[in-house]
Amino acid sequence: MSVGQFVGGLLHGADYNYEQWLDLPEQLDKDLVYMREAEINVLAVGVFSWSMLESDEGIYNFEWLDQCFDRLHKNGQKIILATPSGSKPAWLSEKYPEVCQMAADGIRQPHGGRHNHCRSSVKYREACVRINTRLAERYGTHPALILWHVSNEYNGIPCFCPQCLAAFRDWLKKRYETLDSLNAAWYTAFWSHRFTSWEQIFPADPSIHGLMLDWQRFTSDRTIDFFLAESEPLRRITPDIPVTTNFQMPDVGLDYHKFAGYVDIISWDNYPKWHCAPDDGPEAIKTGFFHDMCRSYLGKPFLMMESGPGANSWQGISKKKKKGMHLLSSIQAVAHGSDSVQYFQWRQSRGGQEKFHDAVISHLGTDDTRIFREVAETGSVIKKLSAVAGTDTKVQAAVVYDFQNGWALGNAQLQRNTGKNYQKECIAQYGAFWKAGIPCDVIGPEYADFERYRLIVFPMLYMLSEKTAEKIRAFISHGGVAVATYLTGIVNESDLCYIGGTPGNLTDVFGLAVEETKTIAYYEAPEFVMNGNNWKATHYADRIRLCGAKALGVFTSSFEELPAVTACEYGKGTAYYICTRTRQAFIDWFYRELCKKHSVDSCVLREIPAGVSVRERGGVMFIMNFNCRETTVSLGENVYRDMLTEESISGTILLPPYGIIILAKKREPGEK
Ligand code: GAL
Repeated sequence: MSVGQFVGGLLHGADYNYEQWLDLPEQLDKDLVYMREAEINVLAVGVFSWSMLESDEGIYNFEWLDQCFDRLHKNGQKIILATPSGSKPAWLSEKYPEVCQMAADGIRQPHGGRHNHCRSSVKYREACVRINTRLAERYGTHPALILWHVSNEYNGIPCFCPQCLAAFRDWLKKRYETLDSLNAAWYTAFWSHRFTSWEQIFPADPSIHGLMLDWQRFTSDRTIDFFLAESEPLRRITPDIPVTTNFQMPDVGLDYHKFAGYVDIISWDNYPKWHCAPDDGPEAIKTGFFHDMCRSYLGKPFLMMESGPGANSWQGISKKKKKGMHLLSSIQAVAHGSDSVQYFQWRQSRGGQEKFHDAVISHLGTDDTRIFREVAETGSVIKKLSAVAGTDTKVQAAVVYDFQNGWALGNAQLQRNTGKNYQKECIAQYGAFWKAGIPCDVIGPEYADFERYRLIVFPMLYMLSEKTAEKIRAFISHGGVAVATYLTGIVNESDLCYIGGTPGNLTDVFGLAVEETKTIAYYEAPEFVMNGNNWKATHYADRIRLCGAKALGVFTSSFEELPAVTACEYGKGTAYYICTRTRQAFIDWFYRELCKKHSVDSCVLREIPAGVSVRERGGVMFIMNFNCRETTVSLGENVYRDMLTEESISGTILLPPYGIIILAKKREPGEK
């Protein structure tokens, strides 16, 4: 399902807090003019409007929203309507204190802020269903409505109130059935932690890893359950309007791989920290990783529901975007699979916590500002890319990023705890593909179909369920290429260590068993040799026993000449293992070689300069320069059509700092 069909192309829009401007109607009039100028075709409204929609229990006031709908519709814009549960009205907290979360010490949190309601509260759920029912009944058939935006940026902040604890115990009963099997899974013989009644279980004991992990899983599931409860009236009353909820940058305590299965369209809020380092390349790679994760959740285009049109006001330092960066960062989203470029927000608030967060229309209130011009320029570019809407990218490589593994690894007390950096390491592996212009998915081990890929990387997959191990075995035996690293397959899904060799259940597939994992201190600089080059090893290094694999890389004498990188043929495929953390130079070289050796589709451009990203989507090639300097790119023999200027392009091009070029392959007369 693509919402682009409603506008005949990509969406370009913003959060629109119409209700904040009711006392200044002339500003609202200007908005309509400015929106047309900036090619805005969609607005997300009602995100935090509850107290304006329902001023007291059962007292509704929809007139302002009716007006907003009708005016935008007449002006040619579509609407994404939010449900207001992200921020509760004061009367609700006053009347039903149970809607506020409770901390682990039993203290109810005061009313205020946002995103802090109890997800189990019966009263909160009832109130959400009531207001959402009204919204669906009133706006469900409005011709401007294209999508439901349920709540806003759900998170996994736990609530310890009696209703949540009871729900947690029910969740545990379903999972384990008996206390005996719970005690076995949680290994409660350790430190005398055995539970003899369900009521004794309180989820605030970091020494019981099984308990903490299940609490994290429950909290994530509870959020999904809450989402389903508040979406129910929308699904029932407006079955033809798709439903999304805006995800955030991971990791916010939710298993997004699982959550994704319950929405029609993935959307997310993208706030990179541009220009906070001298080189924007690493931030571009990280952002690409998040975009690709969003594309991979459902294997189809997503929406970038929010991004900053300028600087933010919640980061330690947020820099104004340098010339070119706004368009570049917007186009990056599209290149990675977004069907929209949307902003937070249209008009900068006059008061409240976000009054200094840049918006499309600033406090100056005019359309002749730098930010407005950049947004309008982006709007005109987006309009020319309508052919890209709804299209996908052919992908043969994937990196596994598992939220639950991140939680388990976070809870674990290893022999090296500083610098575990799970997410960073996944991004490092992904970075090799980004730099080589090889499209790469970011997938969850439980949900993804491994057989779709040629090459899958499993970085630090510390928690490996038996089911995932079986999937990996089948993938490799059918001809897949897998790469696992140190700290893979150490514990099962209950966080219990595998006995008899790691990676658990896969020692025969990888042809090795890890005997121990050494830690490397910051002053040490061990190296390994591979392909005649010396590469640095950092943080962790496995001492392994080979039982079928061959060593491709070997530690130098300072590290006992043990294998550092191995390969093992298994069935029709190959299982590689990297025993140590390495520097980026090795990662980049290693995956380039692997892709060549195993015929993973490579980029059409032979050479991609550092800091330049090349992506292909729907037959369109996006070349994006994240360097703050001009960069030359060679297009090789092919002739392309510049989609923005319609000119023919070939040979060598010079991209300005933060410049982009968007190319379609030029077809010769008669060529199909
Ligand atoms: C997002 C949020 C928006 C706004 C924005 C500011 O996380 O969804 O409502 O607060 O941040 O950057």
